[in-house]
Amino acid sequence: MENKKEKRGQFTSKLGFVLAASGSAVGLGNLWRFPFTAGANGGGAFVLVYFVILFIIGFTLMLGELSMGRATMLSPIGAYRKLKSKYAWIGVLGVAAGFLILSFYSVIGGWVIRYLVKAVSGDFNVTDGAVLGELFTDFIQNPLEPLVYHGIFMALTVLIVIGGVAKGIERYSKIMMPSLFVMLILLMIRSLTLPGAMEGVKFLLIPDFSKINAEVILAAMGQVFFSLSLGMGTMITYGSYLDKEQNLISSAMEIPLIDTIVALVAGLVILPAVFSFGFNPEGGPGLLFITLPAVFSQMPLGGFFAVMFFILVLFAALTSSISILEVVVSYAVDERGWSRKFSTVTLAAVIFVMGIPSSLGQGLWSHVRFFGRDILDNVDFLASNVFLPLGGLLMCLFIGWVWGVDKAIDEVTNHGKLSFPLKGFWTVMIKYVAPIGILFVFAQATGLLEL
Ligand code: PHE
Repeated sequence: MENKKEKRGQFTSKLGFVLAASGSAVGLGNLWRFPFTAGANGGGAFVLVYFVILFIIGFTLMLGELSMGRATMLSPIGAYRKLKSKYAWIGVLGVAAGFLILSFYSVIGGWVIRYLVKAVSGDFNVTDGAVLGELFTDFIQNPLEPLVYHGIFMALTVLIVIGGVAKGIERYSKIMMPSLFVMLILLMIRSLTLPGAMEGVKFLLIPDFSKINAEVILAAMGQVFFSLSLGMGTMITYGSYLDKEQNLISSAMEIPLIDTIVALVAGLVILPAVFSFGFNPEGGPGLLFITLPAVFSQMPLGGFFAVMFFILVLFAALTSSISILEVVVSYAVDERGWSRKFSTVTLAAVIFVMGIPSSLGQGLWSHVRFFGRDILDNVDFLASNVFLPLGGLLMCLFIGWVWGVDKAIDEVTNHGKLSFPLKGFWTVMIKYVAPIGILFVFAQATGLLEL
């Protein structure tokens, strides 16, 4: 136990923790996944549903996960086991989701590194959308090159996780997160002042209610879980790094707030540019990589901003990928007794291999499609829209009905030292509203219940 604590380390300040936890939340989910998922699911309709679901599960589950983590000082499987041993399998589900998510996350992380290299070599002087689209497709369809970058991204993740998360990540998060934010605001201003940008704003913010259907609702729920890093125990793990004096309640509000602002701002960078340059908002996973270079080409010092921006995107992706790998690694360390170094390297290698089909599915294996989606989209769908919400549902039921809301509240109030005015609200949310909400979306999506 002692030994484990030492390896786990602790965040040294509240600000450091909130930034590191926001670092886990803010990542490709906000910058890459949110804009294209919103684009593919009706824009404003999706954003509206996203907000409703965020209200129901954002704070509720964030606080739930943090409370379990800090109460047990363990990562997911250990945490469930310690609180009620026969429920450790819920943690197993989270670890499985971690494997799936990191496998494709690292592929996209690799694309980011490729684009950073492009930016450094000044490749962004192209304004023609069609050409930018082609450059991107050519790259991802190549069988080998994206795999090399996928490997580089995974290697970077490994290096950070081996070094131990707390100090390094905390320190870098404090600098990089605010820089990312400033950069996004600058880009947003550029995007919003492009000709025809308002079409993009309208598309993102004005809901067309007729577009809301079961598919959109499921996509929005998956996006909330993915973006907030909820449902697989990431926040249990991060909560386990916290000392007993920290205020979990305010953190559980701040992290979703920061994450949501970044997602919206990213949407206001990408979608106005999509409309201004005449791209298709339903353009899918390539949206970030095709529209942003177009925006940079229209900016003074665009080449410089491009480099800065892709560095920050890479950093945002890494502060998330390490939190995913950390969940998987701490499972091997806690449950299998492997050394940290061995677990990190071995598991990352396994996940790298698991990511290969997602990468090849863009080109060589693009004929391999299930449910109208390519391999990467299917892995993403399974992990984000099924595993994470299922993990979240089980966690609500576990906290609400097995571990007990009173014990969770005792933990988050630091044993009665902090006041928790939202106590009644949170109790009702975690016991009833959130689980019923998640079940409802699942029922919709599987066609059991017609809206
Ligand atoms: N939230 C991260 C992002 O938005 C991804 C993530 C998902 C991280 C699940 C941890 C767990 O990029």
